[in-house]
Amino acid sequence: MITVMGATGRTGSRICQTLLAAGVLVRALGRNAERLAPLAAAGAQIAVGEPHDGAFLTEAFRGAEAVYTLLVYGPETEDYRNQQAAQGEAIIQAICASTVRRVVFLSSVGAEVPCGTGPIISMHDQEQRLRQLPPEVNVLMLRSGALFENLYGALEIVRAYDCYSDAVAPDMPVPMVATQDVADAASGALLDRDWQGIVTREVLGQRDISYAQATQLLGAAIGRPDLAYVPVSPQELAAALREAGYSASVADCYAELGEAISSGRVRAQETRSPANTTATPFEDFAQTWAAAYRALL
Ligand SMILES: NC(=O)c1ccc[n+]([C@@H]2O[C@H](COP(=O)([O-])OP(=O)(O)OC[C@H]3O[C@@H](n4cnc5c(N)ncnc54)[C@H](OP(=O)(O)O)[C@@H]3O)[C@@H](O)[C@H]2O)c1
Repeated sequence: MITVMGATGRTGSRICQTLLAAGVLVRALGRNAERLAPLAAAGAQIAVGEPHDGAFLTEAFRGAEAVYTLLVYGPETEDYRNQQAAQGEAIIQAICASTVRRVVFLSSVGAEVPCGTGPIISMHDQEQRLRQLPPEVNVLMLRSGALFENLYGALEIVRAYDCYSDAVAPDMPVPMVATQDVADAASGALLDRDWQGIVTREVLGQRDISYAQATQLLGAAIGRPDLAYVPVSPQELAAALREAGYSASVADCYAELGEAISSGRVRAQETRSPANTTATPFEDFAQTWAAAYRALL
């Protein structure tokens, strides 16, 4: 049996489906039984509880051959760092109490950097906690590049302002990756259990893409190859995000991340290789994004 946190989410739902298709018993975790119902119908056990509840996670991890863990938040999350720390500590408590021996953690490119990386800091902190676990616990930290799906945030901006804006420098190459490829890397590891001890693996996507290139590709997919990427300062980004309903804490994190990517503080550590390069090109995502854009009009 394999336990999957965030089972209704982008990586978790695909991981559950893959594991179920492989004939594995899956315990799918989420906060809401209705949202988990499709996974129950597909044959998963479901467990309903909060990701910061160590007692809930302990029961959910008990008896699992492996667990998939991640730290989740929403744009409205107040006090991002404490919210993430509470989840991270609950996961550690549950790993210890349940004696699960294999853990996959969804981390990020840049998680080796201890500060100044916005939302990635919480993944750095969790990696540090995971490194303190007893040696019999095998931990794989999957350091994902920037998810293509972050750019769903561009939909409303393009519609309203006829351009895309962020605080990342326009020409900085960024490892961008399809969520499905990250999920598949996690599923493969959960099934193969082909690592020993504490291991990090980067998942860098099909190729690096700058924000200017990504904007051009999204524009081309909606018949607007001239769509412009207009960089803004971190301060301007934070203000715009607060205006759009993000908590000050999350808005400040994203502003810091923009600067961290632009300066190269957040960047891949591994040289590109077949092992860290995934299949899905950005152009595939651009088509899906374009369909979502047309639905907005
Ligand atoms: N975005 C990136 O570029 C990037 C890059 C590297 C790593 N990451 C990591 O990937 C994570 C996201 O993974 P994902 O896309 O699979 O997750 P996700 O789809 O964003 O969320 C997974 C589940 O978490 C629950 N959730 C949502 N908001 C929550 C909240 N405020 N409090 C508690 N639970 C909440 C939801 O399930 P229920 O409501 O059903 O419980 C959701 O289905 C990030 O948090 C980050 O740690 C992201």
